[in-house]
Amino acid sequence: MKYDIVVIGSLNYDILVQQDRLPEIGETFTGNELLLMPGGKGANQAVQCAKLGLNVNMIGCVGNDIYGSALIKSLDGSNVSVAHITQRGKTSGIGIVQILESGDYCSTIIKGANYLIEESDISESLFKEQPLVILQSEIPDHVVERAIKLASHHHCKILLNNAPAREVSRQSLSLVDFLVVNETEASFMSKMSVASVNDALTSAAELHKRVRGQVIITLGEKGAVLSSDEGAQHYPAVFCPDVVDTTGAGDSFIGGIAYCLVNDISLQEAIPFAAEISSCSIQKYGGQSSFPMLPDVAHALTQNRQRLFS
Ligand code: RIB
Repeated sequence: MKYDIVVIGSLNYDILVQQDRLPEIGETFTGNELLLMPGGKGANQAVQCAKLGLNVNMIGCVGNDIYGSALIKSLDGSNVSVAHITQRGKTSGIGIVQILESGDYCSTIIKGANYLIEESDISESLFKEQPLVILQSEIPDHVVERAIKLASHHHCKILLNNAPAREVSRQSLSLVDFLVVNETEASFMSKMSVASVNDALTSAAELHKRVRGQVIITLGEKGAVLSSDEGAQHYPAVFCPDVVDTTGAGDSFIGGIAYCLVNDISLQEAIPFAAEISSCSIQKYGGQSSFPMLPDVAHALTQNRQRLFS
């Protein structure tokens, strides 16, 4: 079957705690709210793509527990194909997410079944005649590297979101068409501090030398930078007065980029579109549940951007 997007990655059940600040070491701190919801970078990106109307096939692994069944059900309910989601092992991946007063978040992930996905789950047929595969780094790196190799062999474009950041072999990186990372991940990969827009431009240009295609570094409220063959360029963020929760904002940004790539829209136009999408997502709590549908984004977009999907 032909899909718009193949996502190979993680599914986590997220435990989100809304709290005013992080506790000190040894301190017991009282949080405000508890939210339980489906997450994981892979599943989040798949859901945002589906919410934008794309036909998505997700490949991943969940555990034989109540969370695994709930993750499959919710992905299916979001119109993502779950035919290649395997239930393996006892426990699903879990995300423990702390959302602070500012809307910023930090998370700890428990790998669970995400690390039980095997190379044999990544068959050649997954990539044949598929336009784009999206990968992140919450599954074993040898599985990501196999997927890159097979996708490249079948001329399927590769978007790698190296999150959380880890070493990627030079050879695999050289096959990546779109590398998307945040400032922390860019800093890890380029081995330089990425504290300012200028740093990000330098880091993106450095990473651009290592990939086949283009590099985007997202910078939160500072926007994003793109390094392409035309040089490195900065894009300001969309002003958002009501930041509630930034969990999954990077994933919804990637969904927007993927939507544009599938529709032959350049990254120069895709970045402002994707920034609009993630700005919608940070105005509500949670990851997938906060992601906008295409009409919601259309509503948020200024008139001159509406031509992107007319
Ligand atoms: O990007 C946000 C996601 O990161 C959360 O859903 C959490 O599960 C972690 O994977």
